[in-house]
This record gives sequence, structure tokens and C-alpha cells, in this order.
Amino acid sequence: MSSYPATEPYRSRDHGGFAGVAALLLGLALGAVVIVSVFLVKAADDARDDAAAVTKQAAPASAHDHTAHQPLPLTSFAGKAAPNAEALAEAHNAYPAALPAVPAGNLVHVNMTLKDMTVEIAPGVKYNTWAFDGHGAPGPIVHVRQGQTVEMTLKNGGSIPHSIDFHAARIAPNVAFRDTQPGESFTFRFKAGDPGVYMYHCGTKPVLAHIANGMYGAIVVSPRKALPKVDHEYVLVASEWYMNTDGLSQPASLSMEKARAMMPDWTTFNGYANQYVTHPLTAKPGETTRFYVVAAGPTLETAFHVVGTIFNRAWVNADVTNPPQKGIQTVSVAPGGGGIFDVKIDEEGLYPFVSHAFAHVDLGQVGLLKVGNPKGHMSH
Ligand code: CU
Ligand code: CU
Repeated sequence: MSSYPATEPYRSRDHGGFAGVAALLLGLALGAVVIVSVFLVKAADDARDDAAAVTKQAAPASAHDHTAHQPLPLTSFAGKAAPNAEALAEAHNAYPAALPAVPAGNLVHVNMTLKDMTVEIAPGVKYNTWAFDGHGAPGPIVHVRQGQTVEMTLKNGGSIPHSIDFHAARIAPNVAFRDTQPGESFTFRFKAGDPGVYMYHCGTKPVLAHIANGMYGAIVVSPRKALPKVDHEYVLVASEWYMNTDGLSQPASLSMEKARAMMPDWTTFNGYANQYVTHPLTAKPGETTRFYVVAAGPTLETAFHVVGTIFNRAWVNADVTNPPQKGIQTVSVAPGGGGIFDVKIDEEGLYPFVSHAFAHVDLGQVGLLKVGNPKGHMSH
């Protein structure tokens, strides 16, 4: 199995300290994945020899046997990127993580068109999403101020019914989040009364499939009384991808079995594995950076942590109605939840932000905050 270790670009550029320890941990995690991969490849070979017998044999060894109909063993495509992965990663346009400005006025018009589209989720790895025209997955970052009214127009450019559920809304979901038929549009309004960072997503059944196929994004509702001013604000939507093929020679589609088994092939920030390792987010020494983090899932949480520093402020669960916690190392962001995290970093360097559930790092949910212009890093 060819492999593009999630950790490679980051490991090759750091030299000791916290990052060195992290690199060691990442190495161990990668080793574990290789061992699991070897097992899976072996299991696949056995399956070819005697499919029926192996299905019986493999079932007790697998934690994933939820139904009698499930094909076993499930095959992982973890780490399986194109041979020219580094060049492809360089060429990839990173999802713009910077928080956009709040539009003026009391009424904010938000237009989204859902579309069946093939996107890249890792170097050379293509996936058939149901996602957002012009954005892919995640959808556009929406930013409003507490008290503004959001007028949401959803156009269904896909081939099956879809809907949109805003966690920032207090509204009857059977009315506002109802299915919109292919070719139709639907408009509803809600008042953004509760500040924080929230998930939005398609809520059409089975929701697991609609979220897994890329139908999610983040809305930031800034509080009327502004949070402390910072120098940079970035939005990260964490999610995982479950594939029925490796997506290299032709696009993969959803493996519902792997989604139910919670066995992702890739996990990402803003939809593409390791994109902010290759294209780091930036700050200058002494500046404060704010991360708005949403865990879109569909199922797994994100244990948000920035290597080499400590959260100066952590609005756990994105509760900005209370003072932030201080001096926090890692905060779990629940699937369907959010968190807001400030780090003030004085020392120049490369500071990885990760889900500290380290399988996620290995699967691609890692990026870099590049503070200043540290040596040994490519410039672009
Ligand atoms: Cu949908
Ligand atoms: Cu939801």
C-alpha cells in the first residue's frame, strides 16, 4: 500500500522541543496504522482464498460487525494518496480559513447551492460529494453579529432531496429544515440570538450519509459585546471521510458500512488532509490568533490542541456568554459542537494544531500555525 504519511511534511521540518516529541508520537501512530494496514491487506488476501470462511473468521476480530449484511473485512484506504502527493499538495488551493467580515445591516442574505460534485480530499484522492457549489466541503463560512437576522436561501442543485439545519437557530426544524426537492429553492429566516460558533448541515435522512458526503459548514455568531480583539481569526471545520475505494484512479463514494463502523480513511480540517501543513496559517511573534473550531463529524470528536503552546482563552463549547477558561491544553469539540480558542505565541516557530486523538493526525487532521519566518520551512 503506497502511503503519504500525514506527518511527513511536518516531521521533516521540525528539530526538537515540543514538536520533536509530537513527531515521535506521530511516528508511533503511523507505525500503528502500518500494522493495521498489514493486517487488512493480509485479511483481503485471505478473503480472495476463501471468502466465506474468512468472513466468519474475521467477524470476531472486528469491532465493526453491526449488521448481518455487512461485507467484511472493511478495507482501509488510510494514507493512500497519489505517488506525486507532495507536488499535488503544493498545487492544491487551501480552503480560505480566515473569518470573513460581518455583512452590514440587520438582514443578512445567505445563498447556498447544493451540488453533486467531485472534490479532492487528499493529494490525488477524489470523492463524489454532495456539497456546496463554489466551495466543496465545507460550505461557505457564514459570519453574522448577534441580533442580525439570517435569510437563508438553499437551492438544491443535486439529484436527491436535501435540507439545511443551522445549529445557531431556534426554530421549528420540521418547517425550516424541511427537505428541498431537486431543482427547487427554499428560503427561511432566523434571528442569530445566541453567539458562538455553530455547525450547519444537511438534515435529510440518513443524516449520516448527507454529512459524510460533505454537507456541512460553520456559522460564527459574534457576540454583541465583542470578544477581546485579536490579530488573526481562523475557522476550522473538522470532519472525516469514509470511502468505498481509494479514490485514486476514479472518485470514491461513501462507504456506509465504514461510516457506521466509524472507520474513516481520511480526517481533515476544512475538507482536505494536511492542507495547512503544506499551506500554513500565519501569525507574527507576539500576536494572538483565534481559532473557531467546529467538529462536523459526522461522528467523531476533535480534541483540539496546539502543539507548543497553551490556550490563553478557551471558550469551551463556544459558550461566549461566560468568561473563557484559561491555561487549557486540549479541549474536546463534540461532533455537532464548537469551541473558540485564543493562543498568543511569542516565539517564532511552526506550531501544529491537531486533534489530539492521534489517529486523526495520522489520517490528515493536522495543520501548522507558522509564527514569524522560522528557518527550514519552504516559503510560499
Ligand atoms: Cu443532503
Ligand atoms: Cu445537527
